[in-house]
Amino acid sequence: MTPEDLPDEVFSGKAHRLTMGLRPLDMATWLDPDPLDPQLARKRALLESDRAQVFAALPGTEEQCREVATAVADWVGRDLPGEDHPLVEAAAMVRDDICIMAQREGRWLLVAAVVCFPSRWRLADKLGQDVMTIHDPVPRYRQTLEAPTTKAMDVAAFKPRWRVNWTLLDDPELFAPVGPRDAAHTVGPDSYLRVERQCLVPVGGSVVFTIRTTVVRVGDLGDGRAKAVLTAAAATPDDLARYRGWGR
Ligand code: HEM
Repeated sequence: MTPEDLPDEVFSGKAHRLTMGLRPLDMATWLDPDPLDPQLARKRALLESDRAQVFAALPGTEEQCREVATAVADWVGRDLPGEDHPLVEAAAMVRDDICIMAQREGRWLLVAAVVCFPSRWRLADKLGQDVMTIHDPVPRYRQTLEAPTTKAMDVAAFKPRWRVNWTLLDDPELFAPVGPRDAAHTVGPDSYLRVERQCLVPVGGSVVFTIRTTVVRVGDLGDGRAKAVLTAAAATPDDLARYRGWGR
């Protein structure tokens, strides 16, 4: 996803609401395997330097990881080298972050992941949590999106889907496992628009949740688009704005 093909909905002026926005995924567009993308180089470097922060898997998930890693490698058209953990090897083939969600006793849990570009959350905090608990810090989530999210996960176990999430940050850093939510920044042309293209894809019994991140300075979006995101930010309810770290 380049700044040119950021989804229109980000600039619809309504994007301040929490929405599902799930739609069918064309599997030809699932991942980004561009070997020259600088994000991929960054990801490989992080897997070396900060492995414990960017890779996590619950015990007993080796088979699930291998299954997902093989699906990723097949999609890219390569074989897994077989020298490291399969999920790490698969993650090093694509720019997208990869989370494996597995159903246990009717709940969808995050059981393994390689996340190099978290938007102010820590993988270690979320590993083993179900999809609702993962979203606990998000105001209004339980009230508005709890039932639809569980349903979406059940559907994604059969049909590939994708959606978009976006926010404005004061920093373009991709590897952002921490974030002072209380130190609000005033959004404006010098903020960075951070867009995540998220896919939910069935592999075996699991759902693979992938995140492809694009960061663009608001002032570089062009007048119409910059105005649309800043208007949406201004219309965001206080609790959500606080969660996103936006001052008024
Ligand atoms: C199935 C549909 C899903 C929907 C509709 C959804 C939606 C959202 C929304 C609206 C936010 C708040 C972001 C914002 O508005 O600023 C969020 C945050 C987040 N989502 Fe999801 N999400 C989904 C699935 C998942 C899955 C499967 C994961 C697994 C890793 C996940 C991980 C997260 C995390 C880690 C956050 C940040 C939470 C925090 O601040 O601690 N989401 N999601």
